[in-house]
Amino acid sequence: MQTIKYTFIGPLRQAVTMTNLPEKGAIKDEQLHIIKEAGIMIMDDKIYDIGPYWDLYPEAQSIGAEMINLRDDYVALPGLIDCHTHICFGGSRAQDYAMRNAGKSYLEIAKAGGGIWDTVSLTRKTSIDKLAQLTVKKADRHLRDGITTIEVKSGYGLSIEEELKMLKAIKLANENTSSDLIPTCLAAHIPPKDFQGTQRNYLKAIADELFPILQGEGLANRIDAFIEDTAFTPEDIQSYFHKAKEMGFDITVHADQFHTGGSQVAVNFGAISADHLEASTDKEIALLAQSKTIAVALPGASMGLGVAYTPARKLLDAGASLAIASDWNPGSAPMGDLLMQAAVLGTYEKLSNAEVLAGITTRAAAALNLHDRGQLNPGMLADIILFPTVDYRDITYMQGRLKPFKVFKNGVEIN
Ligand code: NIG
Ligand code: FE
Repeated sequence: MQTIKYTFIGPLRQAVTMTNLPEKGAIKDEQLHIIKEAGIMIMDDKIYDIGPYWDLYPEAQSIGAEMINLRDDYVALPGLIDCHTHICFGGSRAQDYAMRNAGKSYLEIAKAGGGIWDTVSLTRKTSIDKLAQLTVKKADRHLRDGITTIEVKSGYGLSIEEELKMLKAIKLANENTSSDLIPTCLAAHIPPKDFQGTQRNYLKAIADELFPILQGEGLANRIDAFIEDTAFTPEDIQSYFHKAKEMGFDITVHADQFHTGGSQVAVNFGAISADHLEASTDKEIALLAQSKTIAVALPGASMGLGVAYTPARKLLDAGASLAIASDWNPGSAPMGDLLMQAAVLGTYEKLSNAEVLAGITTRAAAALNLHDRGQLNPGMLADIILFPTVDYRDITYMQGRLKPFKVFKNGVEIN
């Protein structure tokens, strides 16, 4: 017979639950539900109860819970969620970075053999096992930083075979890390240079041949596309997204990074999220605010490219839901420090603590269509992180330098 395992954590100076917040729009710090002198009871991999420590203590004792007694000052938060990354790749693009800083344009770099296609070539040369190993390394670094769920895109394969290889590598990586990796198919990243046929022929081949395999083998239930002048146009992507929707995939879009057009496509197709949005104008902001599509800011890409941030304040004030992700990738966002980037976005865009933290917890969960995490609430996964402080506001104030002291994933402490 399987025995149930109970764990009781506390006392915590503050447990910031991220519960009962509005799904969309601005959030004030006063709206946060914070339990002082809190205890969290875990049953197996889920949160069983959360409340004042001394109220829960007798029950914890009577059911023989393992006691994680905290003698110092800690603040608990739900495990962080990075809802947009490209951490499965081969090689490096340090050369691109140096060229950009020397004033070369994206196009000049691509012409000199750099850019996304360079990473495609290097990823194709990397074995599935090596790709999985490289992905686990990054996922584990993220996990130590408190990120317990990480979305990971393909998109450096750009053929049926190579996209499959990437998604299988992501699956293999997921089996070898304690963090949850959520796969997304980004076969529509850029048109592959070596495909014999038009861009639309390429997309049709992917939709007809790869989509059924993804479903059959459970390799991804999310489809992404990069809508941009240098990638795919809104017209190119119509039948691709129609097919994806018809088959029941969730849709997400790389939208409005350099030019607008992508967020309109995202809204038209009822995409779960529209990510980037650095170039969005008031028109796109209003469009997103009136929709259910979650806006995802990627401050790491702004830092990596040296361009303006996503207009996060305007999006929130207009009524949009805003998540924040790292976009960790070898080209535009090599840093991969989600908490630092979210905190810094907050200073530039004048976001409240609540808005920043919701963007990397509950709203990021919604951007992945996950409803079992991102909040400290009974029934949710016991993904819990403890910061060594008395005041949750230190987490953004320290701009990412305050690291979690303990990380629990599915109720198990990560060492
Ligand atoms: O989200 N914008 C397109 N794709 C990635 C960059 C990928 C790369 O440069 O390798 C992004 O920024
Ligand atoms: Fe991206």
